[in-house]
Amino acid sequence: MIAVVPGSFDPITRGHLDVITRARHLFGEVIVAVGDNTTKNYLFTQPERVDLATRAVADIDGVRVLPLAGLLVDFVVEHGGEAIVKGLRFSSDFDYELQMAHLNSHMRPQVETVFLPAGRQFGTISSSLLRTIAHNGGDIAEFVTPDVLDAVTARLARGKDQ
Ligand code: PNS
Repeated sequence: MIAVVPGSFDPITRGHLDVITRARHLFGEVIVAVGDNTTKNYLFTQPERVDLATRAVADIDGVRVLPLAGLLVDFVVEHGGEAIVKGLRFSSDFDYELQMAHLNSHMRPQVETVFLPAGRQFGTISSSLLRTIAHNGGDIAEFVTPDVLDAVTARLARGKDQ
């Protein structure tokens, strides 16, 4: 059974990797779908976020990363998927995710949404908070892979040069 783990992944964090790994324990194959929300001001472009996520999951068997365009449920069906897996950190995540799950179910009833509680270790971190910490000179090494750390450091250094 194929499951899709969607998100912006700007950039992918150890919290995301925890959810992806646990989704893979439940499903035979996992596709990480990297979205492009036009209302968001991303640090990395969609191809960059796909590349960072691809390198981050390289050691997890049965997981691949693809860019997401259009509706998530259409993407799931087009790729032979049957489930969407989302990690939930707090109740505020749930309110929004429940609304999306209901709309997605309305559009494609055959696609089930599965919520996983965020992991204990990195469960409540978010890409946006990590970007803020890094932007202000803080250390985010514990929360991301070395590749991602290098990419964030390089991107923020470039921003300061401009
Ligand atoms: O990490 P994010 O920003 O919460 O991820 C959002 C994402 C990519 C999962 C979401 O924007 C999405 O599903 N986009 C595709 C368009 C879509 O299907 N929207 C939901 C309609 S109910």
